[in-house]
Amino acid sequence: MIISAPTDYREAARRRLPPFLFHYIDGGAYAERTLRRNVEDFADIALRQRVLGGVGEVDLTTRLFDETLNLPVVLAPVGLTGMYARRGEVQAARAAASRGVPFTLSTVSVCPISEVAPAIDRPMWFQLYVLRDRGFMKDALERAKAAGVRTLVFTVDMPVPGARYRDAHSGMSGPNAEIRRMIQAMTHPLWAWDVGLRGTPHDLGNVSAYRGRATGLADYIGWLADNFDPSISWKDLQWIRDFWDGPMIIKGILDPEDARDAVRFGADGVVVSNHGGRQLDGVLSSARALPAIAEAVKGELTILADSGIRNGLDVVRAIALGADAVMIGRAFVYALAAGGEAGVANLLDLFAREMRVAMTLTGAKRIADLGPSSLASERQL
Ligand code: GLV
Repeated sequence: MIISAPTDYREAARRRLPPFLFHYIDGGAYAERTLRRNVEDFADIALRQRVLGGVGEVDLTTRLFDETLNLPVVLAPVGLTGMYARRGEVQAARAAASRGVPFTLSTVSVCPISEVAPAIDRPMWFQLYVLRDRGFMKDALERAKAAGVRTLVFTVDMPVPGARYRDAHSGMSGPNAEIRRMIQAMTHPLWAWDVGLRGTPHDLGNVSAYRGRATGLADYIGWLADNFDPSISWKDLQWIRDFWDGPMIIKGILDPEDARDAVRFGADGVVVSNHGGRQLDGVLSSARALPAIAEAVKGELTILADSGIRNGLDVVRAIALGADAVMIGRAFVYALAAGGEAGVANLLDLFAREMRVAMTLTGAKRIADLGPSSLASERQL
């Protein structure tokens, strides 16, 4: 299939993947309203075209946490990325490094920290959930530190699991899930050969490293569900703030009051996020939540945004609304599934190309030039 736009990768991934994996990444919680809104609300934001400003060559570089990024995009932590391509976390991390952007390893990755960190020549970021098993959290933080990770992303919007109804229908969970997944794998031979056979072991690498035994895919949902901690509050995070001397980013902020709490807590950054519409359906889209959060805390910490970013124009929109940079999740996993490392590298190139056009035509030479004045005014809409 011909890939010309970043969004082409979704269909390419759908063709290649067993349905349980496609729907796991593609789906959201409940009726998926927030998932749709995430995409539509960014797409609906009108940019302000400005011409003949002599923009010249556009500079997409930006600095975050003492790191230079060639474009203001970070690969988001996505669980089970290694099921989407052979040793998928390593391939995605390499692609990110080759394009000069950070890769964030998920707690529930297939490849462990010890496999991914040495494969790239730039420090990766690491994501951790708030889990009941504090021993695991401490162990993971120590492993991350030892592997050269500086930037920690702390996901706080999963104290309970949102219901992903698609997963039960697709065979990711639900009745006869294992046999259904096996049949799907057999009928998707490219995936079965590349990932099913050559991409083993298929386990939660970081969890297995801690437990000293394989924690397989069948345990994935169970392990996460047993480990959610709905009693968590800011004060429970204090030991991590004290333990972690690098930048700490709180991911899953959707309200200005919570963003202010993150500042008081001493966070270095927040990710404005509704977890890609995978948690509480019906909450605000990221695009709608972002301006008020930026108004509340801009300049006091770094603001990242995710949930609904599908192309380079969305990156420009998010930054115009107040983000310093964005995270992309689904967009890169589709590209990884369809084209491995080269697919993700190409996706980032496509994002960069789209950003250059959008910035030239909105009169922005640098990332710092993007802001509210890059958007059409309310009264024009
Ligand atoms: C895990 O974080 C998920 O969204 O599935």
